[in-house]
Amino acid sequence: MILHTSLTLGALVLAATMGPCGGEDIVADHIGSYGINVYQSYGPSGQFTHEFDGDEQFYVDLERKETVFWLPELSKIGRFDPQFALRNIAILKYNLDIMIKRSNSTAATNEVPEVTVFSKSPVMLGQPNTLICLVDNIFPPVINITWLSNGHSVTEGVSETSFLSKSDHSFLKISYLTFLPSADKIYDCKVEHWGLDKPLLKHWEPQIPAPMSEMTETMVCAVGLSIGLVGIVVGTVFIIQGLRSGGTSRHQGPL
Ligand SMILES: *[C@@H]1O[C@H](CO)[C@@H](O)[C@H](O)[C@H]1NC(C)=O
Ligand SMILES: *[C@@H]1O[C@H](CO)[C@@H](O)[C@H](O)[C@H]1NC(C)=O
Repeated sequence: MILHTSLTLGALVLAATMGPCGGEDIVADHIGSYGINVYQSYGPSGQFTHEFDGDEQFYVDLERKETVFWLPELSKIGRFDPQFALRNIAILKYNLDIMIKRSNSTAATNEVPEVTVFSKSPVMLGQPNTLICLVDNIFPPVINITWLSNGHSVTEGVSETSFLSKSDHSFLKISYLTFLPSADKIYDCKVEHWGLDKPLLKHWEPQIPAPMSEMTETMVCAVGLSIGLVGIVVGTVFIIQGLRSGGTSRHQGPL
């Protein structure tokens, strides 16, 4: 059972027109979702976040009673009293108990999450990059998203967002893994959710014919060098023969 409310959905719509003719194109819509409150009987656990244009601004760590900004720079601009979130969550907890009784403890339906893995920037071997595992259609918001490299669990360089709200009341969550692209390293984003029969592994590997290119480079270099050396030797032989035979037999040289 889960309660999900957005107490204050502030929608700031900036509709500007584009072009000299004052056309109808809307250039920018901005949505601020201030105070997404989630509380569920599993755990039990809750979540309080603020979002702007679909991005997380901060969440309130309900156990440690502190506000955690997604970007550290944001904490310099604004402050948020975690007590406000704790009060809201307490209300949600109270309401959830009533709703559970009213629904005769009907359990929430598990959805099947959708998983996509991609890199933040085009992959270049040896260039630090970030892998992004985007998990959509999460419901209920209970999930494990982890990373595997060559089949082994990775925990270093991993971070993830809170559950981000969706208009259909499912959730979106993004996990990040910083990594150094290497030809012999493959990755999997592992997702565990009640909507899946077994953990889902979304595979990713660099799309670069890396070992080929290096080998080809070496081959081209070796062949070029050989041809060059043969040319020098043959040329030298011709020069010597030309010098030996002198002007008279110039037209009777080998070939
Ligand atoms: C509530 O659940 C009980 C036990 O499963 C069942 O006997 C009863 O009919 C249910 N009532 C309603 C209103 O669904
Ligand atoms: C997530 O992992 C924990 C620890 O391994 C496990 O107890 C829990 O059942 C997992 N959750 C899901 C939704 O599979």
